[in-house]
Amino acid sequence: LSRESFPAGFIFGTAASAYQVEGMALKDGRGPSIWDAFVKIPGEIANNATADVTVDEYHRYKEDVDIMKKMNFDAYRFSISWSRIFPNGVGEVNWEGVEYYNRLINYMLKKGVTPYANLYHYDLPEALEKQYNGLLSPKVVKAYADYADFCFKTFGDRVKNWFTFNEPRVVAALGYDDGTFAPGRCTNCSSGGNSATEPYIVAHNLILSHAAAVERYRDEYQAKQKGRIGILLDFVWYEALTNSTADRAAAQRARDFHVGWFLHPIIYGEYPKTLQEIVKERLPKFTEEEVKMVKGSIDYVGINQYTTYYMCDPHQPEPQKPTSYANDWHVGYAYERNGVPIGPRANSNWLYIVPWGMYKAVSYVKEHYSNPTVLLSENGMDDPGNITLPKGLHDATRIHYYKSYITELKKAMDDGANVIGYFAWSLLDNFEWKSGYTSRFGIVYVDFTTLKRYPKMSAYWFREMLRRKN
Ligand code: GCO
Repeated sequence: LSRESFPAGFIFGTAASAYQVEGMALKDGRGPSIWDAFVKIPGEIANNATADVTVDEYHRYKEDVDIMKKMNFDAYRFSISWSRIFPNGVGEVNWEGVEYYNRLINYMLKKGVTPYANLYHYDLPEALEKQYNGLLSPKVVKAYADYADFCFKTFGDRVKNWFTFNEPRVVAALGYDDGTFAPGRCTNCSSGGNSATEPYIVAHNLILSHAAAVERYRDEYQAKQKGRIGILLDFVWYEALTNSTADRAAAQRARDFHVGWFLHPIIYGEYPKTLQEIVKERLPKFTEEEVKMVKGSIDYVGINQYTTYYMCDPHQPEPQKPTSYANDWHVGYAYERNGVPIGPRANSNWLYIVPWGMYKAVSYVKEHYSNPTVLLSENGMDDPGNITLPKGLHDATRIHYYKSYITELKKAMDDGANVIGYFAWSLLDNFEWKSGYTSRFGIVYVDFTTLKRYPKMSAYWFREMLRRKN
């Protein structure tokens, strides 16, 4: 496996997000986001950690870009913190925040690392949450489009690859169905919520916000700036446990509720039929005008692919009302078939190592969504166990993970999938949401006390794999 196995111009990069790596959370004029509020609730995050400092990329971006360059990566997918640009979500601009992204982008360009900028990675300005319940309100659509517009206008002369949202499914499901991510709402959550309706309302507002931003980009900027814009979707592959009609239907429902929820409207202008039939009047509707705006609202799509589960018929009656987004799927989960585990587990309890799921997920997008241009925008694993220096640098399992997943991606491309790039999650160990600093996804180890960076073996594996041979 090497760069030469891929088409000319294929992009290799690493991905990260503002809240997870920047630090300087409430400094240099940045306003709080819903994650700043959420991490302060005792017990929400492992060891009650925050990302106030995390890996301090705000100050160490040059060192980090230099590491990317050293490891032969072509690109960096970062995210812009909305509340660093607009501390109140709308209105006054924080020019210190603007200058930070100018420094980062300019340094990347100077070093020949192409910027892929994502406008939203879970970090809604807290001001909008307080004012009108944030993503639950249709008001967020204009606020978001104005923020996006400002970014296109300010950075678009240099940034040619845009994403509107990262993993809107996670935002809606974890934020509003089980309440494990900010803003922590659900039917039985102390902050209130309704798991039967709110995830669908939030998803709807996210889709409309995405489409409104894309419309601005296309109307005002795209012709002149010559960039492209899309959305980033997480895609767990769901494989039917057996070939029975009931299990195959369960797997299909899971795919529709997971990736179809967003990709179906974006490609075809409506929610998948399964959602329409199951969620019924709880599923918001697009007006004719909105359909026009949403349908076709991507130039490319980012797919975040980590893992695979078996799906089976739950052999249980339909859930009683009131229900929840998770119950609406009406599926059973399985992690082995005929006594054979689906794959070894990484550190995170949701992450099973299943390389063939990469092939299936990417091929599915090709077959069911008219072969869009795809960027494999996240893929990676966290080191099992509690890793320490220097032993922790010998991450043989991660090298095997990357080698086998990238091989499966290549196979999907050989079979016709239109994939233009691949991004590893992540360059550095960083703040891993609920797990805080107890989960390490980096190809570079970070000592969280000194913030010193130590490349793991996998970083050198990438360096060799990506070396240009003349
Ligand atoms: C995402 C992911 C990342 C995680 C990574 C490892 O939304 O893109 O949640 O932020 O850190 O997927 O779990």
